[in-house]
Amino acid sequence: MSPDGKHSSGLGGQTPTADYDGFAEAYAAETESSLLNGYYARPAILDLAGDVVGRRILDVGCGAGPLFEALRDRGAIVTGIDPSVKMLELARKRLGDGAALRQADLNDPLPFPDDAFDDAVACLVLHYLEDWTAPLAELRRVLTPGGRLIVAVNHPFVYKYTNPDGGSYFATHEYGLECNFSGQNVVLSQWHRPLHAITGAFIEAGFRIAVVSEPPPAPGAHERFPDEVETPDSAFLCFLFFVLEAA
Ligand SMILES: C[S@@+](CC[C@H](N)C(=O)[O-])C[C@H]1O[C@@H](n2cnc3c(N)ncnc32)[C@H](O)[C@@H]1O
Repeated sequence: MSPDGKHSSGLGGQTPTADYDGFAEAYAAETESSLLNGYYARPAILDLAGDVVGRRILDVGCGAGPLFEALRDRGAIVTGIDPSVKMLELARKRLGDGAALRQADLNDPLPFPDDAFDDAVACLVLHYLEDWTAPLAELRRVLTPGGRLIVAVNHPFVYKYTNPDGGSYFATHEYGLECNFSGQNVVLSQWHRPLHAITGAFIEAGFRIAVVSEPPPAPGAHERFPDEVETPDSAFLCFLFFVLEAA
């Protein structure tokens, strides 16, 4: 199983991209209730977040807004950012005029004051970034002391399973990931980094690692996806989840 949808690795003649504008609708439709998104990444993030009533939460790379909506339904005060205009348009349709959505890129300074949020969630976003130093410093800055950054990233061990002839596990490097979202072929540009680089970047940025999680898929996954999830307690490696506390 590999990250982000139905895919195998390779370039397939297309230029790898992290710009979701060209396939926003296809991505949103594919991942609304897919195994890896609807039954794995999002439920895992929500479980890790726990009781969010009244918490100010920044949804980083909010995409079409499914996680934003779920957090808001649970009583959080959510702000979503994404660089993709098309993804934000879909989020706006889903979430309504009153939703706090802004176009922003994690590679740039964030348009928020210090201590603006109690939590941030970054679900399947950080692996699009080459350098995590400034983005993590910005996330630390906008979180209140003791605030949490809840992250889902590509599990670094999966890279070598799916790319046995790819680059070194130990080197941070870009690779192209062939995906098919609702019939549209896309090559995503992603960055592999080894586990020590992931955890080291969090600690360097001033976060304490409170939880590392390799959860099973959500209840109901076996019934909905019996070929991929063969028994009710089947588990697989795909993403790695962290709860980080701003020191
Ligand atoms: C795999 S999708 C995940 C969307 C959403 N978090 C979810 O779980 O449904 C990745 C999202 O990250 C956004 N993204 C890509 N590069 C980004 C960056 N540099 N800063 C912030 N978001 C980015 C994309 O536009 C896209 O909406």
